[in-house]
Amino acid sequence: MRNDLGAFLADGVNSPIPTPPNFPRRVISGRGPWLIDNNGRSYIDLWMGFGALLYGHSDALIANAVREGLEHLHFSSIPTPLIDRVSQQLHENYTCAERVRFATTGSDATMLAARLARHVTGRSRILRVHGGYHGGNEFPLSDGGLVKSVDVGDCVLFNDLATLGAALATREFAAFMVEPVLANNGCVPPHPTYLQQARALCSENDTLLIFDEVVTGFRLSAGGAQSKFGVTPDLCTLSKAIAGGLPLSALCGRADLMTDVFFPRGPVFHAGTFAGHPLALHVASAHIDRLNSDPPYDAASNLARIMGSHMDAEMRRLGIKGAVQREGSMLSVAFGVSAFQYGVLATNFDTRRFDIFVAEMAMAGCLMPPLPTETIFMCPAHAAVMDQILLATTTALTAVSRA
Ligand SMILES: Cc1ncc(COP(=O)(O)O)c(C=O)c1O
Repeated sequence: MRNDLGAFLADGVNSPIPTPPNFPRRVISGRGPWLIDNNGRSYIDLWMGFGALLYGHSDALIANAVREGLEHLHFSSIPTPLIDRVSQQLHENYTCAERVRFATTGSDATMLAARLARHVTGRSRILRVHGGYHGGNEFPLSDGGLVKSVDVGDCVLFNDLATLGAALATREFAAFMVEPVLANNGCVPPHPTYLQQARALCSENDTLLIFDEVVTGFRLSAGGAQSKFGVTPDLCTLSKAIAGGLPLSALCGRADLMTDVFFPRGPVFHAGTFAGHPLALHVASAHIDRLNSDPPYDAASNLARIMGSHMDAEMRRLGIKGAVQREGSMLSVAFGVSAFQYGVLATNFDTRRFDIFVAEMAMAGCLMPPLPTETIFMCPAHAAVMDQILLATTTALTAVSRA
């Protein structure tokens, strides 16, 4: 067995996300806020499985649910009753979820949402937000700066109602697909009435409003952004945090849009060998019960607030121009700008300083998402290591100020 890492992986990696200096190439275990690499070094994880982990690594509830699920029936081609149980849980948590279809990845769910919207409206174009990310599908849903091989499609700026209104008034769009809190263009909260007005504009123009809650679902609240902001989309997609780190996704939406439309009752094709995998559903069911009965949201938001305020104060003290934006437990930083209300990609932010910050944070033992378009995800397990996180932040910002 060759021991040089990535020898047989194409380009040595399995993702478009770079490995920054001082980052571990492989991790072998984790507990709470910690990740341990293949050299035995421990790091505090501020990325938390792309936001999927609300209770930290190796949480006992998830581990027990996996064990229990394996004992029952780990896979079959006939669904288990868990598919009914979890669809009911989604219905009870998500205001738009009159009906549910399960898939495996976020990309599956957004692809299905777009396909359904095209069918029910008879229109083909999907309007989206500049810098929003909806997965790696081979159709124009991604322009997060990463994807160069597909047409980026029709985009408007997040938080910009004037261009949204003008685009929708053409009545050419099947749907407006939007992350209700932009999580792939830095962390960008919606302006106070943005989602309400987007809702109204979509209804006026017979365009479906699709909330891509792949990140925000179960991360901002147990009812996602739609519950937090009180705006009900026509359809929504969920994935990362449903099953606490196991692969599962869902398309949820209005009953009239999701009845008798899927093949063979209708023409909209939906299939997937592992769609609604019983093991992932078993974990999702236990995870959703816990998110409802022992919500991590206030504690996680409070830690994100502490970290954000600390970064703000230290940047001021050190004379670094930069901005921190936060929504709930999600936050991100950009250097060289004083705000990024339309997303970092709409600004001239300083990538060099960002890269230094990430590398210095890792050197100080804290792993954050390595791209300025991604967000840090906090969870209550970080409470025990908050002093180390704040110290690492000061050390890394000091290095940024000298660069
Ligand atoms: C908002 C959003 N939608 C969809 C996706 C695609 O999900 P997946 O990577 O599971 O296909 C992502 C992935 O990061 C995402 O952030």
